[in-house]
Amino acid sequence: MASTLLFELTDGIARITVNRPDKLNALNAIVIAELSDAVTRVETDAAVRGVILTGAGTKAFVAGADITELTEQGPTGGQNRALVGQQVFRRLERCGKPVIAAVNGFALGGGCELAMACHLRIASDTAKFGQPEVKLGIAPGYGGTVRLPRLVGPAKALELLLTGDMIDAGEAHRIGLVNRVVPADRLMAETEALLKTILANGPLAVRACLAAVDAGLEMGVDQALLLEAGYFGLLSATEDMQEGTRAFVEKRRPTFKGA
Ligand code: COA
Repeated sequence: MASTLLFELTDGIARITVNRPDKLNALNAIVIAELSDAVTRVETDAAVRGVILTGAGTKAFVAGADITELTEQGPTGGQNRALVGQQVFRRLERCGKPVIAAVNGFALGGGCELAMACHLRIASDTAKFGQPEVKLGIAPGYGGTVRLPRLVGPAKALELLLTGDMIDAGEAHRIGLVNRVVPADRLMAETEALLKTILANGPLAVRACLAAVDAGLEMGVDQALLLEAGYFGLLSATEDMQEGTRAFVEKRRPTFKGA
């Protein structure tokens, strides 16, 4: 894979690193195209069981869309840039495998939006979050107005969106934007440990949780409950369900096959 994005696969975990540290890992069109290819691999390669997404270097996760590219765009180009990025982020969110953002520094604008498109977020205690687009006279284009209010509620989301102010990792944790805050030198170890905990569970069950929450949030309670019951029934047809319940009764660890 090309150099603005690194893709390493070890023991079923794909580590995807946005790799433009001299530009604080800003998302230019090349990064978005390479991220699209990386998501395709995550979707299609059975050897990939979970994903950790991070930024290169110690300073930034991703400091936003590449502002130098924004200066050159017109209305059609701007709308297209948003649609292309949104589609890649949405595919990542719906890839069916757990994706954790290891937020190692600035997560601003498109960086905060990319972290929010991941299922879970672990932040280093040095991380900073924000949607500073309004300071540039623009509004978020990669899902910030959509995912931020769903994660933290409309009042806090609007405060962040309208002021453009940054918050530190502690505040991001307090408002529910991140799952955990860990010391910077523990970020990768803690993120891997969390992902390995998830990967020890039945993969089809994990996939069902991801799909049910994603779709269920868009539905009324009764429809979402019906969807949940459908997954519950479907999983009852799997070998993994037989293995998981039998292992409990036999007081041993289950061995899941994803079948
Ligand atoms: N797009 C393009 N380049 C960016 C960038 C972005 N979003 N964010 C940082 N960079 C570049 C800087 O231009 C600089 O490049 P240079 O060395 O060639 O001049 C390099 O990354 C380092 O950034 P710098 O601003 O010098 O670091 P800093 O520690 O002084 O400030 C930030 C860090 C994050 C506060 C600051 O870079 C910033 O505000 N970035 C823009 C954040 C933003 O508005 N994102 C939303 C975009 S829609």
